[in-house]
Amino acid sequence: MKERFYQRDVISILEFERSELEYLFEITDKFLNYIDRKLHLLDGKIIALAFFEPSTRTRLSFEVAAKKLGADVISFAGEEALSISKGENLTDTIKMLDNYSDLIVIRHRLEGAAKYAAEIAEKPIINAGDGKQHHPTQAMIDLYTIKKLFGAIDGLTYGVLGDLRYGRAITSFIYGISLFRPKKVYLISPEALRVREEVLELLRNKNIVYEEKYNVEEVIDQLDVLYVTRIQKERFPDPMEYEKVRGSYRVTYELLKHGKKELKVLHPLPKVDEIDHGVDVSTYAAYYIQAKYGVPIRMSLLTLILGAKL
Ligand code: CP
Repeated sequence: MKERFYQRDVISILEFERSELEYLFEITDKFLNYIDRKLHLLDGKIIALAFFEPSTRTRLSFEVAAKKLGADVISFAGEEALSISKGENLTDTIKMLDNYSDLIVIRHRLEGAAKYAAEIAEKPIINAGDGKQHHPTQAMIDLYTIKKLFGAIDGLTYGVLGDLRYGRAITSFIYGISLFRPKKVYLISPEALRVREEVLELLRNKNIVYEEKYNVEEVIDQLDVLYVTRIQKERFPDPMEYEKVRGSYRVTYELLKHGKKELKVLHPLPKVDEIDHGVDVSTYAAYYIQAKYGVPIRMSLLTLILGAKL
């Protein structure tokens, strides 16, 4: 199984088979036992973190993962500090990073940017988010979190609440659970932020039972997992359209009390105002542990792609 990861690009969660993700989770379980130690599995390797868009968790957890494994990191955040601000194009920037590093992690506002980088670079590319399209390593973290919480990803009822139109994390999560056998998936959003047709088509092709809803209140008592995202303000072509949906859903402790006792709320973060503070300190909140799993998942992925001896 290890060989399937070696020197592999990671552009979309849909490129993975269930068995490959399960293998990744096994390795991640092992890394959890060594999370407080500095390992030397990637000594001498250089990881490039090319973040053309803002990030807290993804960039920092990749950096921590690389450093815990003994790799060095070169990074930038935003285009201002790069020669792109002098007019250099993305192609030349990627070619340079390809020369300087052993693996490139890229986040970009444009859909397809990571795929494009993978066509140019000889070194492996990991997509850390491209526009509204994919965020595969976030989906790996989400699935791993569910496995740790419930013991399985199959057989659960999922509510996916938020900006299903522009959100890449929530889209990748839907793609991710489609690789397993969920009991049912409720796609819950304001009408203007409904899930894109290409995502629905994929669910139909994979025979996933789903239903679209406008209100989470209608289904809260059926859910095992409620996956929430913020409205992706920065991706709206028209600010007036954002104003129409701003604040249109909010998850409160009162709402969750109508759900199952074991219900867990996931969120890729950052969150803005869609989850009430009362939820943060309740047993429903799983998003801080979810963010914590970002480090061991990314340690596993870096180790496997760079072929370190495990
Ligand atoms: N979940 C996630 O992608 O967060 P950041 O934007 O902070 O990286």
